[in-house]
This record gives sequence, C-alpha cells and structure tokens, in this order.
Amino acid sequence: MNLSTARTLKGQRRIAGKHRRSPKLQFLKGFLKHPRMVGSIIPSSGWLIDKMLGRVDWTATKLFVEYGPGVGTFTRPVLDRLSADATLITIDTNPDFTAYLKGEIDDDRLIAVTGSAADVEKIIAAHGFEKADYILSGLPFSTLPAGVGEAIGAATSRVVRPGGAFLVYQITAKARDFIVPFFERIERGFEWRNIPPATLFWAWRDEK
Ligand SMILES: C[S@@+](CC[C@H](N)C(=O)[O-])C[C@H]1O[C@@H](n2cnc3c(N)ncnc32)[C@H](O)[C@@H]1O
Repeated sequence: MNLSTARTLKGQRRIAGKHRRSPKLQFLKGFLKHPRMVGSIIPSSGWLIDKMLGRVDWTATKLFVEYGPGVGTFTRPVLDRLSADATLITIDTNPDFTAYLKGEIDDDRLIAVTGSAADVEKIIAAHGFEKADYILSGLPFSTLPAGVGEAIGAATSRVVRPGGAFLVYQITAKARDFIVPFFERIERGFEWRNIPPATLFWAWRDEK
C-alpha cells in the first residue's frame, strides 16, 4: 500500500498543531532530568532518519517497534511510512516522553508504552504479538546501566522475525558490542549531517 492510500484510510490520524508543545523543549527537559538515560541533547536529523529507515521493506511490515522514541523524532516518520493496517509500539523508560507522544500523536496504529526495551517480549505479547518485523533503537547504549545493553541485544534477537532487522543509530559505535553476538549479518553506515554525527547499524536476522 502506498503512502497516500494509507493516509486516506487513516483519516482519523492527527498530529496536534496549534497547541503542540515544543518537541525540542520537551527533549531538553528530558535530558536535564535523566542525562545518562537520554544520552543526547539534540534530536536526530532528517538525513539520519531517511538513511536509517531507507532499508525497511514497509510492505512486509506488520509490527514495527521503536526503543527510546523520546519526543517522537523518528516516531512520526515511521508512521508516515507505515501501512494502514500495521502497528508501531514505542517503548521508553521515561513516562514524560510516553505521555508526550500520547498527547501529541493521535494515530490508532501507535501504542506508546513506558518500560524498558529489555522487556520487549513481554510488552509486545501484551498487545498480541510474538514477533516484530523491525525494531529501531535510539538508545544511548554507551551510558546504559551495566548488563542492560546485553539484555536488550539478546531480547531483540529473539523478537525480530527471520528476514527482519534491528536498526540502531548512535553517536558512538558502542552499540555494535551488543548486537554482534546476536545477529547474523550487520551492515554499517555513517551520517555526518546529524549533531553529533551518528553511526548506523542494520543488524539482519537471515531467513532460515
Ligand atoms: C538519545 S534519546 C533518543 C531520542 C529520539 N529517538 C531521537 O532520535 O532523537 C534516548 C531515549 O532512550 C530512552 N531510554 C533509555 N534507556 C531506555 C531503555 N532501557 N528502554 C527504553 N528506552 C530507554 C530515553 O528515555 C530517551 O528517550
């Protein structure tokens, strides 16, 4: 299904405009409150978003999961590309960000959850899913508490379906340590046009 068809079918979708709270301000507040959990002071750029999502097969995507959506810098572009009958589950440890997404994005394909990415299996199961087609991570892997990165890498590899991928962007290449042990094939990219420049990984689960 193409984008315009999806838009027509999902006429009820609305992103609040007039009274929208500034995403940049919300993000800064989140950073000031939990600097190590948020990990960055500036949301991702459009170039980074396009490069990261450019490898997704949207026609084959029924469940897309996003870890660490923050104020929705990737969430909105994911919804723009997602089919009308697909679902996006976002998982963020910060309840302020979850509340912000719920308040700002009115789209019945979006399920915004407060929780840890390490619990992805439980979280998607609670919404009737066993596998995800793609999982996107904006997590600050280099500042996560000890053991959390490994737990997230392992849980993610159990959830991504064969042929699907774990998409990871980060300002350091540290995330690689947490995906290499769990995924068969890892492709790497780099985007200068982001503050700061970011490393991208597409970690694929090969078809059996
Ligand atoms: C660098 S921000 C990413 C923001 C946004 N995705 C972007 O691209 O601009 C990292 C986010 O990860 C969240 N986070 C940190 N640890 C987490 C965990 N274990 N599970 C889920 N979210 C987590 C933070 O609350 C924050 O919203």
